[in-house]
Amino acid sequence: MYYLIYFAYESFPFKKEDLEDLLKQAREKNANHQVTGKLLYVEGTFIQLLEGNEQAVKSIFSDIERDKRIIALKVVAEGPAMARHFPDWSMAYEKISLADINQLEQCEHEGVKDYLTNATPFRLIKLIASNPLL
Ligand SMILES: Cc1cc2nc3c(=O)[nH]c(=O)nc-3n(C[C@H](O)[C@H](O)[C@H](O)COP(=O)(O)O)c2cc1C
Repeated sequence: MYYLIYFAYESFPFKKEDLEDLLKQAREKNANHQVTGKLLYVEGTFIQLLEGNEQAVKSIFSDIERDKRIIALKVVAEGPAMARHFPDWSMAYEKISLADINQLEQCEHEGVKDYLTNATPFRLIKLIASNPLL
């Protein structure tokens, strides 16, 4: 089992339909490759966890890296994993706000970029694994 976490910024303002198309595409392909994970959309920024067989994760990630819908992609962490965080989700999805993050982290970041450049991999894993809206 292998995992990879990255973040990237949208290259244009995503509409609801754009997100729906993206999720449909991602979920179909992930299901075929037994890749699972979670995609967070935070005010124009995507934070994604991919998990599965190392080759499958790397292959899907190499497509994402070349995707023109996102820019300034940065890998936060990757490596072997003991188990899946999202075994039941070919790609779980959640839209959250900076206010949700600030509440969860008990911080007052002024922007998502500011948060991400300072967040440790551990914090991002916690954010992905949590359900700020629930
Ligand atoms: C933010 C973001 C997240 C994505 N996540 C996935 C994903 O988890 N799995 C996937 O197959 N494609 C994902 N994609 C789409 C890929 O970049 C790419 O368009 C797709 O894999 C191409 O598949 P195809 O060549 O088989 O049509 C994502 C794209 C973006 C912009």
